[in-house]
Amino acid sequence: MRQIWIPKPGPPEVLELREAADPLPGAGEVRIRVEASGVNFADVVGRLGQYPDLPPMPVVVGYEVAGRVDAVGQDVGEDWIGRDVLAMTRFGGYSSIVCVPEAQAHARPPGMSAEEGAALPVNYLTAWQLVRIMGGLRAEETLLVHSAGGGVGIAAVQIARWIGARVFGTASATKHEALAKLGVEACIDYRTEDFEERVRELTHGRGVELVIDAVGGRSFKKSYRALAPTGRLGMFGISSAATGKKPNKISLLRTVLGMPWLQFNPVSLMNQNKGAFGVNMGHLWDEADRVNGWMESLLELYSQGAIRPVVAERFAFDRAAEAHHYLQDRKNFGKVLLVP
Ligand SMILES: NC(=O)c1ccc[n+]([C@@H]2O[C@H](COP(=O)([O-])OP(=O)(O)OC[C@H]3O[C@@H](n4cnc5c(N)ncnc54)[C@H](OP(=O)(O)O)[C@@H]3O)[C@@H](O)[C@H]2O)c1
Repeated sequence: MRQIWIPKPGPPEVLELREAADPLPGAGEVRIRVEASGVNFADVVGRLGQYPDLPPMPVVVGYEVAGRVDAVGQDVGEDWIGRDVLAMTRFGGYSSIVCVPEAQAHARPPGMSAEEGAALPVNYLTAWQLVRIMGGLRAEETLLVHSAGGGVGIAAVQIARWIGARVFGTASATKHEALAKLGVEACIDYRTEDFEERVRELTHGRGVELVIDAVGGRSFKKSYRALAPTGRLGMFGISSAATGKKPNKISLLRTVLGMPWLQFNPVSLMNQNKGAFGVNMGHLWDEADRVNGWMESLLELYSQGAIRPVVAERFAFDRAAEAHHYLQDRKNFGKVLLVP
């Protein structure tokens, strides 16, 4: 098989394509011939050596794949063989063949391509947890999505529109037209506009009921202030720490120091009738039954046509460095994929 390795922290060019022996499925596992692997922002942060959960380098990252099952291990039904699936991988997804526990693989609904399948798990499960499960968004409410043109952003927009809520989004100006087509009512260019002020204007001073923010640092403070009474802030990343293509401890430190360590406290939350919560999908592996239930809901929404993963670009495995550049250059509208 072919795999993309990160041998050491560094710019996208450190990514290395290597050959390895095909893995055999262990007990309880299915083996998947991968047709597409999802690229996530966490992979970039991992490559920069700034991702605390990353196993020691050299490492193969990647949280999700889609393809066809070609073998099963002991205690797994032979009926899996030949099935088109999508799957969550706990690292190792940048591989042309993966073995995963049966519980992490899901049959793709009719009509779902391998590319859509690989674009779905991380982005849509994260957005579901933020918007539906913990954010509790309702039809009469308004959601502000940061990085709305990214993978999680578009998933959150689609889920919120299915709920029937109003959606505002921040994104690079080049992405506004496409976001409007997805039903985003107001697109805010964070480079030229202050999103907190724009939200106040758009809501006549009231604020929004839900903000989902993975920009991090000072953005969390502003997002919290943009909440209406009963509003909730969902925090799930710190993109602003990844300022360049090379490891940069200073920008990480600046982002961490900019966080609202003192703003949210029991007294301010009570007095302002606001909520704050965090999401980290990578820490939910022990909640597999719950997460699988969310996946079933998402696959049902796909079948109904309520959600559709948007693929921004796909890169062959030997162009993995370009995929990371593309994401870090903020060129993506939707998901970036690697194709073995
Ligand atoms: N906690 C979790 O479980 C979880 C799960 C998935 C993702 N996340 C987090 O969610 C965020 C989005 O992830 P994603 O995979 O969906 O990526 P993505 O949004 O598809 O891609 C990155 C986009 O984010 C925006 N961005 C903001 N700051 C950036 C920066 N410093 N460098 C490059 N782009 C930046 C850019 O959009 P604009 O052009 O509009 O600026 C860019 O296109 C990341 O912070 C990620 O770590 C967290």
